[in-house]
Amino acid sequence: MNELINQFLAGQSLLLLCYLIGSVTFIIGLKMLSHPETARKGNLVAAAGMTIAIVGTIFLYRDENLSRLHNYLWIFAGLAIGGFVGTLVAKKVQMTAMPEMVSMFNGMGGACAMLISVVEYHHLKEVSGGELVIIMLGMIIGTVSFAGSMIAWGKLAGSIKDKTIPGAQFINFALFAGILLLAILLICGFSESHLMFYAVLTMAAAYGVLFVMPIGGADMPVVISLLNSFTGVAAAFGGFLYSNPVMLTGGILVGSAGTILTILMCKAMNRSLKNVLLGSFGGAKHVASGTAQTSGGSYKEISLNDTATLMAYANKVIIIPGYGLAVAQAQHTTHELEKVLEEKGVEVLYGIHPVAGRMPGHMNVLLAEADVPYEKLLELEDANDQMAGTSVVLILGANDVVNPAAKEDPGSPIFGMPILEVEKADHVIVNKRSMKPGYAGIENPLFFRPKTSMLFGDAKKVLQQLVTELKGM
Ligand code: TAP
Repeated sequence: MNELINQFLAGQSLLLLCYLIGSVTFIIGLKMLSHPETARKGNLVAAAGMTIAIVGTIFLYRDENLSRLHNYLWIFAGLAIGGFVGTLVAKKVQMTAMPEMVSMFNGMGGACAMLISVVEYHHLKEVSGGELVIIMLGMIIGTVSFAGSMIAWGKLAGSIKDKTIPGAQFINFALFAGILLLAILLICGFSESHLMFYAVLTMAAAYGVLFVMPIGGADMPVVISLLNSFTGVAAAFGGFLYSNPVMLTGGILVGSAGTILTILMCKAMNRSLKNVLLGSFGGAKHVASGTAQTSGGSYKEISLNDTATLMAYANKVIIIPGYGLAVAQAQHTTHELEKVLEEKGVEVLYGIHPVAGRMPGHMNVLLAEADVPYEKLLELEDANDQMAGTSVVLILGANDVVNPAAKEDPGSPIFGMPILEVEKADHVIVNKRSMKPGYAGIENPLFFRPKTSMLFGDAKKVLQQLVTELKGM
């Protein structure tokens, strides 16, 4: 017997060590993710820690009767199928479809938390009290996150359209109140009905759907980040339930990182979270689709040859990348342009707006992929400080993030959003394919200003031609 107890203790200490390694690597990995140069390694470090925690759980875990896990076929079949599908999807995904994939993966996390709660609800000996509080919270938050993420995924993939549901705010309030009431009845032991448990689950799913449905396309990254924090919190409840420290640490880290990211994104767009979440209820306070409003102004075009000449004789060029650069996959050609210009003695920098593109850090990741040195990427304030005295600003597939209406037009939906103040430079060249608006669906007065010239065409093709012109000079 003593021998058995000793074995148990030794196994548990080793398992705890695995969990400690897992938790520490999550924190180190997260820290490394904050810099493009270390982000890839950070991901690997955290993944290695997670592998240690999973393998430790599978082989070292013993319950109070000292029994090991026994359902290995289920465990390994699940790991193999999930691992295969996840790898395939991650390898195939286009950079521009990244938010969809994040949403789908996040939804799976929410579903896991929901299923853990369902399973443990049926394992409960006493259907009330403290353990049930944790189960209910994990189930409700996990289900909202799962259902909401699936809608977000459908919207980003274009299969679900933004919909304003009449009375949605009222329905959501009623659902929320209903969820709260039934959950309290169950927890306080007024009812032991399984039906009631599943009624709460169904209402939470409906809440998740209705809460995301009316939110406009441009606000989706904020919602995904918020749902991500929900999944983290739901997973943390799973950690409480199983007294599992690594699940708890992981859940708390995801929950807090998601919350911080949500706040940062709202700040970068100068929108309150309330405005993002309720903005489209009962009418569009925020325009997120739409066609160009016609303008009274006229714009001028510039030829490739003139652009090349202007840039070759510039002292400094600031490149502003936007969503269009990602669409055109022109990051490598942009880096080539940078090198050709530098060979001609031109200083080249990049101005990065925090919400350029469609997800946080989109432009940083894109340019890092093309080996653009990180020191060349200027954050918004630094870029704006450098604009005066810059000969040419080259805007590549960016629109909203350089729209002066954000500063000048109190009626504009993006009024108050900090922008890259490109007009402080001597010349502004805008590359895009047409005069169509960007994601906010609003016209950009910058295109009609005297300093601005339009260079129409697909970013990659235009840049390739520009590089050829410059090389021939
Ligand atoms: P947008 O305002 O969306 O403008 C992108 C421009 O790229 C479009 O006007 C489009 O014009 C052009 N374009 C598309 N394909 C192109 C191609 N192949 N070659 C050249 N140009 C091309 O982009 P942005 O300035 O990066 O702003 C981002 C928007 O997303 C903001 O409204 C922001 O609030 C929103 N948003 C971002 C985030 C994050 S975290 N990044 C989160 C929430 C919301 P043409 O069709 O005429 O070519």
